[in-house]
Amino acid sequence: AREPLVLGIETSCDETGVGIVRGRTLLANAIASSMDEHARFGGVIPEIAARAHLEAMNPTIARALADAGVTIDEIDAVAVTGGPGLAGALMVGVSAAKALAVAIDRPLYAVNHLVGHVGADLLHGEGLRPAVGSVGELELPTIALLVSGGHTSLLLVRDLVSDVELLGETIDDAAGEAFDKVARLLGLPYPGGPHIDRVAAEGDPAAIRFPRGLTLPKDMAKHRYDFSFSGLKTSVARWVEKRIAAGEEVPVADVAASFREAVVDVLLTKALAACQDLGVPRLLLGGGVVANARLREVAAERAKAAGVELRVPPLSLCTDNGAMIASLGAQLVAAGHAPSGIDFGADSTLP
Ligand code: KG4
Ligand code: ZN
Repeated sequence: AREPLVLGIETSCDETGVGIVRGRTLLANAIASSMDEHARFGGVIPEIAARAHLEAMNPTIARALADAGVTIDEIDAVAVTGGPGLAGALMVGVSAAKALAVAIDRPLYAVNHLVGHVGADLLHGEGLRPAVGSVGELELPTIALLVSGGHTSLLLVRDLVSDVELLGETIDDAAGEAFDKVARLLGLPYPGGPHIDRVAAEGDPAAIRFPRGLTLPKDMAKHRYDFSFSGLKTSVARWVEKRIAAGEEVPVADVAASFREAVVDVLLTKALAACQDLGVPRLLLGGGVVANARLREVAAERAKAAGVELRVPPLSLCTDNGAMIASLGAQLVAAGHAPSGIDFGADSTLP
């Protein structure tokens, strides 16, 4: 039998993503981003994101169909991010997916955004090159470290459809958010991650020893591998303030490099500890922060030393996109999973 042709819609944050897959084969991954509109506010504004999704939805669906070379009638199933994410933004994608599924009379699957990030690693297709590892050969179980502007989560994935366990998440700022806040502190533009990365390349990562925040107070951490980045951010702020108060110049490159080193250290120490503790010899990275050059470099070194297989999907599939949602949808179809029906709601706090 031919594998199912699935269209996936992602609108949990600022990216309107529409992807089309046939089983594990990527056919289209159309994206529209409203980031330019948020930049001047220094953060994603939910109202603006939702309105931008509304405007971008139909053109992005049309572009995905054209890129995949298929017509809407050929789609076998529709998948959509049901949560977690920004409520208004999610609602636009969920409404569009419901309308589409009803219009073409096909099953609709609501999927979890975070698990979608893992589903990205199943895909292979023309011109698709992984950042690390080989394309489309996700093996399970795996530990997955998902790091973006909206989330910092560590998952144990035994089965994409039925067995995903949350091992840890941030109790305050997401990793990308920490990059964005420290960038602002250093006078760099938003979103700050790429700018910190660029500036840090000229700095000394050992110049300042910022706290790692590896151990959290027991009453704050809910999971064994929870993260916290607000202490690190505050410590960078204090350090910079002191320099300024003393009338000294702020060594921006050294601060950026030292901060980046601390974030990378915390993320990988916990992720690889989970691999070790749970006996899982595989680590998958996902999310926009994977664009960080130092994170990928240190991950490769430490995974190798620990005997852990590191997998990093192509960067176009690491940032939020519709193809990863379609990929997970295709897994649900293949597993004979029941569709979600039409009366589910977007769930901004979906676990
Ligand atoms: O996954 P993504 O594109 O969007 C969502 O957060 O939903 O991730 C964006 C985040 C931003 O916080 C951005 O600053 C961060 O990823 N980022 C980086 C880098 N490139 C993007 N952080 C560190 N280093 C980078 N090179
Ligand atoms: Zn994401």
